[in-house]
Amino acid sequence: MFLKGAKITAIGSYVPARRLTNSDLEQMVDTNDEWIVQRTGIRERRISREDEYTSDLCTAAVLDLMKRYGKSIQDVDMILVATSTPDFPFPSVASILQNRLGIPSTAGAIDMSAACAGFVYALHTAHAYVASGLHRKVLVLGADALSKITDYTDRSTCILFGDGAGAVLVESDEQLDGFAGFHLGSDGSGAHHVYRTGLSRSVNEVELVDTGKLVQNGREVFRWAVRTVPQGVQQVLNNAGISLDQVDWFIPHSANLRMIEPICERLNYPLEQALYSLEYFGNTSAASIPLALDLGIRGGKVLNGQQILLYGFGAGLTHAGQLVKLELAPEVSPPTPL
Ligand code: COA
Repeated sequence: MFLKGAKITAIGSYVPARRLTNSDLEQMVDTNDEWIVQRTGIRERRISREDEYTSDLCTAAVLDLMKRYGKSIQDVDMILVATSTPDFPFPSVASILQNRLGIPSTAGAIDMSAACAGFVYALHTAHAYVASGLHRKVLVLGADALSKITDYTDRSTCILFGDGAGAVLVESDEQLDGFAGFHLGSDGSGAHHVYRTGLSRSVNEVELVDTGKLVQNGREVFRWAVRTVPQGVQQVLNNAGISLDQVDWFIPHSANLRMIEPICERLNYPLEQALYSLEYFGNTSAASIPLALDLGIRGGKVLNGQQILLYGFGAGLTHAGQLVKLELAPEVSPPTPL
């Protein structure tokens, strides 16, 4: 049963102009296009300019949303930004956006940290705010500028990551209902498998590598995700009271196509109905799910009323699933090309 009262009414996206191709990476580290495509499915990523930060990516995504759907954000009463790469530890990206976008200073504004699961956590939070009646119009962003914290001498990480932003509006509605089952989780015993050092240099009694860049044990994250996500998807379905064959599109986090394949296989879900943004944008962390959703909308595949299952996973180790039905307003102008 879908709950009453909250719906996704608009979406916008942005990726920086600069492309980093597999052949560019061949000039930087000991790798090759064939290995990268075979092991990850990634061909290109977008890299922000030196003076372009997560707040800038978010701003452009919101401008795309407003232009496409003719939506005002003057009455937004909460801004949620999921990111692991905020411009600063504080002030928040959300506060910067509030001022830059001219959203009234009576709106709440917070950043949320749940790594690659961040967008789904933020969407879930927006739903809770709106369905409870506490807020009426929430701007939700998933955005990351991972290139700023990627070690371009480490071939096992630099081939994966890229930059981007996605934005959606979650609005209240007396009649329509667009959110159903969800499932959240976090297994902090794996916190040392993917991290960037901050004030502390150890977690779980493990001394961390202190490069100031993203560090990961790719194999461990891979194994954990392929084990955890199918179970989590089943929980979302149980929570929603529907079966997997009723799901029109599955949008797992775009970490690596070679992870999405076994996840679909374990679920017995057709890979053709899985949407991802990794082929030309890489792993964009919190942005990967809204980008994949928007690619589906821009391509005419994803339509209002279809059942879409989003599932984010990443550092923490966090994971979050949410079943949604879109109720997008009619487009009044074409999207800004990506
Ligand atoms: N080019 C060529 N060879 C590479 C390479 C690259 N870019 N990166 C690693 N290799 C090598 C390794 O050194 C290793 O060589 P060896 O056998 O001589 O030791 C070999 O390829 C296999 O390495 P392995 O780590 O087993 O590869 P993999 O198939 O597991 O792929 C990742 C590595 C990182 C792509 C993969 O594990 C992954 O995507 N993990 C998930 C990471 C993730 O999602 N992180 C973000 C959190 S959401």
